[in-house]
Amino acid sequence: MLILGIESTCDETAASVVEDGLAVRSNIVSSQVDLHAKYRGVVPEIASRAHIENILPVVSQALEVAGTRLEEIDAIAVAHRPGLIGSLLIGVTAAKTLAWARGKPLIGVDHVHAHLYSVRLDVAPTIPMPAVGLVCSGGHTALYHLKDFLNVELVGSTLDDAVGEAYDKVAAILNLGYPGGPILDSLAKDGNPRAIHFPRSKLDRDSLDFSFSGLKTSLLYHVKGFQGKQRATTPMNERELQDIAASFQAACIDVLVEKIKRAARKFNAKSIVIGGGVSANRGLRAAMQSFFLPTFFPPMAYCTDNAAMIAGLGYELLKSGRTSPLDLDAITHSQFVDATH
Ligand code: KG4
Ligand code: ZN
Repeated sequence: MLILGIESTCDETAASVVEDGLAVRSNIVSSQVDLHAKYRGVVPEIASRAHIENILPVVSQALEVAGTRLEEIDAIAVAHRPGLIGSLLIGVTAAKTLAWARGKPLIGVDHVHAHLYSVRLDVAPTIPMPAVGLVCSGGHTALYHLKDFLNVELVGSTLDDAVGEAYDKVAAILNLGYPGGPILDSLAKDGNPRAIHFPRSKLDRDSLDFSFSGLKTSLLYHVKGFQGKQRATTPMNERELQDIAASFQAACIDVLVEKIKRAARKFNAKSIVIGGGVSANRGLRAAMQSFFLPTFFPPMAYCTDNAAMIAGLGYELLKSGRTSPLDLDAITHSQFVDATH
């Protein structure tokens, strides 16, 4: 079965054709990073306009690279939540129009849910269940209890910044560019993670929630020389930047790993799945190598936003009969948000 996936939740316009939920036949991502870089973050209005320009060429290219035509596609899956409303609307409208015009089933997919599914793409590992899932990206940092890929429950989430957002803000503080994750990740590789002690927000002992705003503020104070070192007046050298990046990264990873461990124990997990942009992080991947449970990361191409994960999860939803009506809505929040989060 061939599913066409469409993704436009934030600042990437993406389309992909995936066979039987696993084999990625095409994965086209048109990134808007250059448009947003000078603002050091995503500008919603600019994002929507760029999606309008990109959506049809990206879909055509995904079909072409996959060597198929719209008539041969079995269903159309679209990320319809969560995200920026103006961005979501472009992908959802395109998907609904194609589904209606060609009489294909439409499948609304939760983008965060699809980040968890991304670990299965191309490699199709056998993942022991139940599992604990972590989605760590620019918009989300949350823990899930998975009985299987369609049976997912939110068990903890960030109370303020997402971890990827903290990376982006820290990179902005250090004037390093956008997005900050990959830049800080490479700097951290050559730095000393014990050079500066940044706080680890563990919250209370049993909590599965996260908080990264204190860490970001502590780093800001460090950089501005609030500890009496007057660093603000002297530009930092490469070594100092590497040490800050490594120390910041160590604080993020310590918290992520600790919370994964707590959740794994609580739910007697047999494995861990980690998705979202920050799952590309080398430090996090290295730290999880010595974890007491097998850990599954997506192939690098499917860590950040993409439509292959939308098509992949779309296939599973289709198989279980969960198609969507043609009046499918774009929704800004995830289906997993509950009263406590
Ligand atoms: O999943 P994604 O593309 O978009 C959201 O759904 O938010 O994630 C983008 C985020 C950005 O904040 C970016 O800085 C972060 O993922 N990121 C990384 C790395 N690569 C991307 N963070 C840490 N280390 C990386 N190597
Ligand atoms: Zn994402």
